[in-house]
Amino acid sequence: MRIAVFGTGTVGRALAGALAERGHEVTVGTRDPGETASRTGPDRMGRPPFSEWQAGHPEVGLADYAGAAGSAELVVNATSGAGSLPALGAAGAARLAGKVLVDVSNPLDFSQGMPPVLNPVNTDSLAERIQQAFPGARVVKTLNTMNAA
Ligand SMILES: NC(=O)c1ccc[n+]([C@@H]2O[C@H](COP(=O)([O-])OP(=O)(O)OC[C@H]3O[C@@H](n4cnc5c(N)ncnc54)[C@H](OP(=O)(O)O)[C@@H]3O)[C@@H](O)[C@H]2O)c1
Repeated sequence: MRIAVFGTGTVGRALAGALAERGHEVTVGTRDPGETASRTGPDRMGRPPFSEWQAGHPEVGLADYAGAAGSAELVVNATSGAGSLPALGAAGAARLAGKVLVDVSNPLDFSQGMPPVLNPVNTDSLAERIQQAFPGARVVKTLNTMNAA
C-alpha cells in the first residue's frame, strides 16, 4: 500500500519505519524536505536529525505534505497538535478526499508552560476539527495514547 506519514518526529519515524518493514511504500511528509534533510544535530527534544534516521531507512521517501499525500492511498497524521491543521491544509483537501486519514496527534498546548494542557478538549477535539476541515477524508483517531516506543 502507498502510505503517507506526516511527521518527522519520534512518532512519524516509528510508524514509517514499521510500515516500510512490512512492505508498504512509505513517504514521510514534512514542511520543507530540503530543510528537513539538511538539519544537523539534535532537535529541541534531543532527537537525532531526520537524515540520520533516514540513512537507516533508505526505502522511506521524504516529500512535502502535498507530495507525500498525492499518490498515497492512506495518510497518517503524526504532526504536532498545533501543526496538524496547517500540515493537512498544505496537503490540500483534494489530496485527502476519499482516503482514510489515521490521526495519531494530540493537541498539546505548551503556551502556559509545562506540563502542557489539551486544547481543544472535552466538548471538542482535534480529530473533530480535522474532520470538519476535511469532510472528504475518513478520519480515524487511534494510537494517540500509545507510546511511540
Ligand atoms: N511521543 C509519543 O509517544 C506519542 C504517542 C502518541 C501520539 N503522539 C502525538 O504524535 C504527534 C507527533 O509527535 P512527535 O513527538 O513525533 O512529533 P512533534 O515534534 O510533536 O511534531 C513534529 C512534526 O510536526 C510538524 N509540524 C510542526 N509544526 C508544524 C506546522 N506549523 N505546520 C506543519 N507541520 C508542522 C513538523 O514538521 P517538520 O517536519 O517540517 O519539522 C514535524 O513533522 C504529536 O501530536 C504527539 O502529541 C506522541
